[in-house]
Amino acid sequence: MRFLPDDRDPSVLVVGAGYVGLCLAAVFARRGLKVVAYDVDRDHVERLRAGRCTIAEPGLEQLLREGLASGCLTVSADLSAAAAVDVVLLAPGTPVDADGRLDSSQLEAACRDLAPRLRPGQLVVVKSTVSPGTTRTVVAPLLAGHGLRPGIDLGLAHCPERLAEGQALEQLRELAVIVGGIDAESAAAAAALWERHLGVPVHPVADADVAEAVKLASNWWIDHNIAMANELALFCDAFGIDVLDVVTAANTLPKGAGRLNVLLPSVGVGGSCLTKDPVMAARAAADRGVELRTITTGRAVNDAMPGHAARSLTDELRKLGTDPAGATVAVLGLAFKNDVGDLRETPVVPFVEGLRRAGCTVRLHDGLAEPDQVRARFGQDPEPSIGAALAGADAVAVLAAHREYRELTPGDLRAATRAGCLVFDGRRYYTRDEITALHDHDLRYRGIGR
Ligand SMILES: NC(=O)c1ccc[n+]([C@@H]2O[C@H](COP(=O)([O-])OP(=O)(O)OC[C@H]3O[C@@H](n4cnc5c(N)ncnc54)[C@H](O)[C@@H]3O)[C@@H](O)[C@H]2O)c1
Repeated sequence: MRFLPDDRDPSVLVVGAGYVGLCLAAVFARRGLKVVAYDVDRDHVERLRAGRCTIAEPGLEQLLREGLASGCLTVSADLSAAAAVDVVLLAPGTPVDADGRLDSSQLEAACRDLAPRLRPGQLVVVKSTVSPGTTRTVVAPLLAGHGLRPGIDLGLAHCPERLAEGQALEQLRELAVIVGGIDAESAAAAAALWERHLGVPVHPVADADVAEAVKLASNWWIDHNIAMANELALFCDAFGIDVLDVVTAANTLPKGAGRLNVLLPSVGVGGSCLTKDPVMAARAAADRGVELRTITTGRAVNDAMPGHAARSLTDELRKLGTDPAGATVAVLGLAFKNDVGDLRETPVVPFVEGLRRAGCTVRLHDGLAEPDQVRARFGQDPEPSIGAALAGADAVAVLAAHREYRELTPGDLRAATRAGCLVFDGRRYYTRDEITALHDHDLRYRGIGR
């Protein structure tokens, strides 16, 4: 194979040791490959070298430490390893700018730094999410800056990262990888990397442009589906129907290659991907004169949910005879989804702002989020314990149902809070029996569309 050694394990350089890059580096190192994880953030590199991982992915810190101890994983703030490795995985951040356009500055800087260090025969794989054509028209010319021709001297492919935070390490070992090369040799080498050296299936597509579009299509679908679920919740509220009953029953219908798969409504959509990837797709299409209305509408619906949820909570307090102005609300789970500590674009921030505007005193708790991050994003210290958050509260809003919150019994909640306390369900999805148990403990329940 032209761009991957046939007779030994390849060595790997991961450029950008953030969420995606570090997970990839740790998983390849666990397979026994020699991996260098490179990042421009020197403080981050120092922490990682000391075995401390601020990325709250279950099992990642352990894997980082094992990789460092075995010598398979090295973390570095300089790129000198680039010339020696067989494979380079590019995983810097790819945010969008104020107009929603891909901001490829981190990716471009990485390519510029890399180009003079590359040698013939290496394989470069772009993992970052980008708009169609970026690998071919932005990455390839930058890598070619020092005389090496991608597709001839260097392999170059796009293999979008599809992991979900919270299950990243399992998913990297299981999920099929989409492979699109800028030529057939590059695609073959990239496919062999994932199949042979990570042991996962691949799904080849025609070229890198298609692979880039696959990733955007996936997050467009997810965001849009959740928007539909969120509006279904408003619809069900209007009729006094439980949205979960409707979704569960509707999803039994065979459709296409599977079944109807309406996702679940919630306090809102957050995280670093769903909030920007669909926007990136819409902007890229608009630049070619195509208007994508489902994206704009879906984003608007999902962005409205934190405000809607905060109003539902305060309306419910009023119905229960408690003035929201002066009420104490314990917010459990500040992250954008269950069982992760990632606060990027979390919908809990606008939810809390809504409560503050209504005059509520808000107490914050998230056992998985870094306290410094909580302070930075919410302008308030987190409570030191669940008990401190709950003490005497008028309402408890469970917005990311981390395991420690799922384990709270109605008795626990009742013992810590005011009598008649409202339990507001933003992503906990209490079952019918659990809701009955809350009522039996003199607690009130309100959910999104429930
Ligand atoms: N987080 C996710 O769940 C997820 C899932 C799938 C895909 N993605 C995509 O993967 C990419 C990375 O996302 P992330 O969440 O890991 O971002 P991140 O912000 O956690 O990590 C990016 C890292 O790249 C580093 N960096 C920036 N410029 C660099 C450069 N020039 N050279 C080397 N390192 C550089 C940053 O310091 C940072 O540590 C993005 O395109 C994202 O859309 C993310």
